Parts: sequence; structure tokens; C-alpha cells
Amino acid sequence: MKMKKIPASSLTQREPLLDNILRPKNLSEFIGQQKIKERLRLIINGAKKRKEPIDHILFVGPPGVGKTTLAFILAEEQKVSIKAVSAPSLQKTGDLVALLTNAPENGIIFIDEIHRLSSSLEEILYSAMEDRSISFIAGKGPGARVLNFKLPPFTLVGATTRPALLSNPLRDRFGFIASLDFYSHEEMVEIIKRSQKLLGIELSEDGVHEVAKRSRGVPRIANRLLKRIRDYIEVEEMEIIDKEEVKKILDLMGIDDKGLDDLDRKILFTLRDKFSGGPVGIKTLAAVLNESPETIEVVYEPYLLRIGFIQRTPRGRIITPLGLSHLMRCSNG
Ligand SMILES: Nc1ncnc2c1ncn2[C@@H]1O[C@H](COP(=O)(O)OP(=O)(O)OP(=O)(O)O)[C@@H](O)[C@H]1O
Ligand SMILES: [Mg+2]
Repeated sequence: MKMKKIPASSLTQREPLLDNILRPKNLSEFIGQQKIKERLRLIINGAKKRKEPIDHILFVGPPGVGKTTLAFILAEEQKVSIKAVSAPSLQKTGDLVALLTNAPENGIIFIDEIHRLSSSLEEILYSAMEDRSISFIAGKGPGARVLNFKLPPFTLVGATTRPALLSNPLRDRFGFIASLDFYSHEEMVEIIKRSQKLLGIELSEDGVHEVAKRSRGVPRIANRLLKRIRDYIEVEEMEIIDKEEVKKILDLMGIDDKGLDDLDRKILFTLRDKFSGGPVGIKTLAAVLNESPETIEVVYEPYLLRIGFIQRTPRGRIITPLGLSHLMRCSNG
């Protein structure tokens, strides 16, 4: 396989196109999360028999593990339409009412980041989900009226990285809550092998394992690394790319052998050098790093906790001996 040189500008333009190519389109293309896939198949088949839309489903899990992908797969598997919105785009009652009353018959309404819905909009959803009706007050003062609407049969699919922020009544109205976890090394290897084919590149077996090692169990990160490797291959006109090349490219990108990036390491260095290893509260840590506490908590912390580099204590975060020895290696390297 020999690839042509292409101008750097076209690399960024085709990014959304590549994302679309990489996204699994049906359940059998979706790798891992076996139990969840089985359950979804059951739900889809049951609903098909009863000729009803499937139960409302909530996907929970860290960023980049396939929540949005599964929502679209649900529509594809049933051959129904899907309308996708992000909760922050629903500001007023009217926004949500318009979305619900225009629900595709037997189709899916997908609300991403559903934890960011305001409580008044959450309340409208309760009855919409429970008995497919909505009632709300239109207008103000003496002219105010209660309006009732019946909705077509539909399925609400929600996705969230922060399930604890959802109210209990909303959570209870989902028929199935699917918690997606980080992927195992073997699953990441399978995902990377699938993606490299779709991207038209070829990594050696140990090259694939190296990318898996540095992708922190998140398919989106693996795909991002592969796209950068692809850019590199195209510019350098290389054929098969082996472990040493992968290491070189990812080191260049600042991704170390544990999959940590610059901000991960900055978190660890800050804990060690500015707070004598901790404990330090998440807000203080975020302020020092000039990041939002949410980014630290949702995007960075779960992985650092998982690999045992930091710990949560009642008084805040601390760096562990494992985290400290990783920093020693970084500063020596
Ligand atoms: N199980 C999987 N098998 C193969 N590819 C996957 C899988 N899960 C995710 N991906 C890939 O990772 C990308 C990111 O997934 P997706 O956008 O569904 O994540 P998400 O959980 O919705 O993230 P966010 O919380 O940031 O919205 C997808 O475009 C897809 O290409
Ligand atoms: Mg998503």
C-alpha cells in the first residue's frame, strides 16, 4: 500500500467524513459491551413483535465510549427515524414541546447531555415518557391557559456522562439504563483493527497493541490516534507501520505509554509540586490548572483513578506512589 502526499488543509476538512466512516452502523459492527448489545437485541425484537416502539433507554458512560453511536444504531436496527438534539439547545418550554409534538411516529428522540436539561423541562418529559401526553401552561397572568397534547408513539433515548445529576423521577422513567464502561485491551485491539481498515492504513500486530495501550480504553481516542498516524503515513509515504513508528508518532503528539496527555501529566505534576501530593479539592485543582472542574472530573479523573495514579479521599484528591513513579519516568525520559 503506497499513499499519495496530500495537502495539510484537506486533512482537517475531511475529519467529519472520517468520523462518519468509522462509526459502527449496526449492532454487529459495534465491538464489546456484550451484555448491553444482547439486552438491546431483546428489547428491539420484543417491540417488533408487539409492533410498538421500544422502551425509553438511557445510555450512561464516560465520553467517547459509544453512547451516541448506540442511539443511532437503535434507529438503524429498527429502520425508524431519529431526531437528535443536545439538551443545552433546549432552552424554553416551547423548544421541548416542538421537539416532542414533532416526534417521528414509532421513531426515536435522542437527547444528548440529558443531565443539562432544566428541571422545568425535565417535568414536561415525565408525562411525555409515561403516558405520551404533555400539559403545560402557555402565556402569563389572567390569559394563561393549560394546553394538553397527545404525542405519537415514540422512544426517548438519553445519553449522559453524569447520571448523578439526573433527577430520580426522570431516571425511573427509563425502561433500561445501559452503563457503558471503558473497553478492555482486547476490545480496543479489535476496534483499532476495524478502524485501520476503514481508514485504509495498515499497522503491524504490535503497532496495533501499542495504539491500544495508549488509547485509555476509549474508542474515540483510538480513532483519533489512528487518524494522526494516517496523516503521518500519508506525508511520509510509508507502508506498514510498526510499534516503533507508532511510539515515535504518539510520543511526538505528547501521548505517553500510559495514554496520558499533557493535561493528565499537568494534573499529576500540580498535585505533587503545588500541593505536596494532596489532598486537594477538585475546584482548587481546576482553578490552578485553569480548567473547568467538570472537564477534570468527567474527562481526566476517571482514567487517572482507574490506573491508580490518583485517589479520591474525603478531603480531596491525592497522588499515589504509582502516579509519582510515572512522573519520575516522565521527567527522566
Ligand atoms: N463499541 C465500539 N466499536 C467501534 N467503534 C466505536 C465503539 N464505540 C465508539 N466507537 C467509535 O468512537 C466514536 C465515539 O463514540 P460516540 O460518539 O458514540 O461516544 P459518546 O459516548 O457519545 O461520547 P460523548 O460522551 O463525548 O458524546 C464513534 O464515532 C465510533 O467511531
Ligand atoms: Mg455522544
